[in-house]
Amino acid sequence: MQAPAKIILLGEHWVVHGSKAVAAAVGLYARALGQKAEQGIVVSSKNLGIVEDLTSCHKFCNLWEAAQYIAASVSRKPWPARIHIESDIPIGAGMGSSAAVAVAFSACYAILGGIKPSLNLVLRAAYEAEKIVHGNPSGIDNTVSTIGGFVLYRRGENPIRLSNVGLKGTKLLIIDTGIPRSTKVAVDIFSTRLRALNGLGGSLLELVNKVVDEAIMALKEDDAAKLGLLLDLSHGLLNAMGVSHEALETAIHIARRSGAYGAKLTGAGMGGTAIALVPSEKAGIISSLLQERGFRVFEVEIGVNGFTIQS
Ligand code: PMV
Repeated sequence: MQAPAKIILLGEHWVVHGSKAVAAAVGLYARALGQKAEQGIVVSSKNLGIVEDLTSCHKFCNLWEAAQYIAASVSRKPWPARIHIESDIPIGAGMGSSAAVAVAFSACYAILGGIKPSLNLVLRAAYEAEKIVHGNPSGIDNTVSTIGGFVLYRRGENPIRLSNVGLKGTKLLIIDTGIPRSTKVAVDIFSTRLRALNGLGGSLLELVNKVVDEAIMALKEDDAAKLGLLLDLSHGLLNAMGVSHEALETAIHIARRSGAYGAKLTGAGMGGTAIALVPSEKAGIISSLLQERGFRVFEVEIGVNGFTIQS
């Protein structure tokens, strides 16, 4: 069972204030490998080096919620299982690593109980897990990891998977600055600036909606150059709103001047990660240049499928 990470392509921060955003599933995965058991629900994590029985959980109480949700959906008590988890997704980098783990776990646990892991069941079970990790999450991380592709979302509305979109001949570089950041602090800084702009703030939110619409058009027309321009524009606005960081600027400029279609911060900003949309043939060289400057770089497909079941 594997489930992908997510990135926000554009619209972060503005989405908190009501405009649209587009997220995408990217080719970094969490995997869950399960087998039936006689007793307990034993989860082992390769990355964290933890083995725990969920029925008396300390670290994986999120997954216990998911297991209970799945069992309740068929009016049963949770069944015993052994599930091993591993993940390629950086933790705490805004890429939905906990959601991807919850999605892979949920699909695996359902199958071990003889239940078909429908999109709806997995999405909801993983959301129960995410509530334990994040309090009151928007649900975008578990949604993107479950359904995959490119997802349009707006606060208070159901996320929509965009159809007939794609970017041929491109790769996405995910550039981890390694600078820790707090989503809450970044959201506060952005919101304070937006308020200070008074009426102009509303015009900017409208502008971002238009940028997102144009980006969706570019995705439908498979126009990477146009999308790159819109990513650059989005970053310029986020920078002006105070949520960039010197390390993000360095990474973005290296990517742009070495041939990226466009580059921007992704997620909360103020550190964390940047993304660069690049022609496939230039991915290797741009990635090397970034690594030489000390960045950790992941070269991934964008818009990959949601969770998949492997026997
Ligand atoms: O970096 P992350 O995954 O925490 O992304 C935060 C995205 C924001 O738009 C800044 C906040 C939000 O809740 O949408």
